[in-house]
Amino acid sequence: MSETKSLPKKYPKIQKDLVKILIPGQRIQRRIQALAREIRKDFPAEPLHLVSVLKGGVFFLTDLARSISGEVSFDFIAVSSYGKNTKSSGQVRLTRDLDSSIEGRTVIVVEDILDTGMTLQYLLRIFQQRKPKQLRVAVLLDKPERRITAVQADYVGFTIPNEFVVGYGLDYAERYRNLPYVGVLRLASEAKKAKVEE
Ligand code: PRP
Repeated sequence: MSETKSLPKKYPKIQKDLVKILIPGQRIQRRIQALAREIRKDFPAEPLHLVSVLKGGVFFLTDLARSISGEVSFDFIAVSSYGKNTKSSGQVRLTRDLDSSIEGRTVIVVEDILDTGMTLQYLLRIFQQRKPKQLRVAVLLDKPERRITAVQADYVGFTIPNEFVVGYGLDYAERYRNLPYVGVLRLASEAKKAKVEE
């Protein structure tokens, strides 16, 4: 199957905002089923505690949680990154902590995207201090070209190029999170060009 697909006609407004669909919704769902099987195979008899980072990771968490067989629980954490630019200076701050302790539990951190790796580096450091039995990372999207840390995910849905992606939890100014697919956002310069070409 090809990597990209033309935009469905039922999203006429979105069609103007996006360059293309990078990963169709059905492909995301199929990949999540496979990841869920892989995770359960690695931990056949373990209760699994999924921890997602608000807000982007929520869609991936709910689909993954429903696809993993056996005992699964989940919790949420939120961090403030002071915007993408300052994130590279390492200023990640906890704004909402987990509801329950992760000590002695098998924890899987569930993220929508691994970009610079600053968020995960911070989270893994604080989670390790809380003595989980095992700690793993599942990301739907991995953008290795942007990485400035040594962080790696144990489970990766898709490795993607360095493009501004939205949908399936990922936003631009809080928009597009609800799209069932991952698309590439049309940048302002391209939008101008598209307007001329219309
Ligand atoms: C996104 C994403 C990750 C983080 C990854 O969150 O959900 O948490 O960025 O980037 P990094 O690898 O460079 O740290 P964002 O800060 O955009 O917040 P959101 O989930 O609320 O959209």
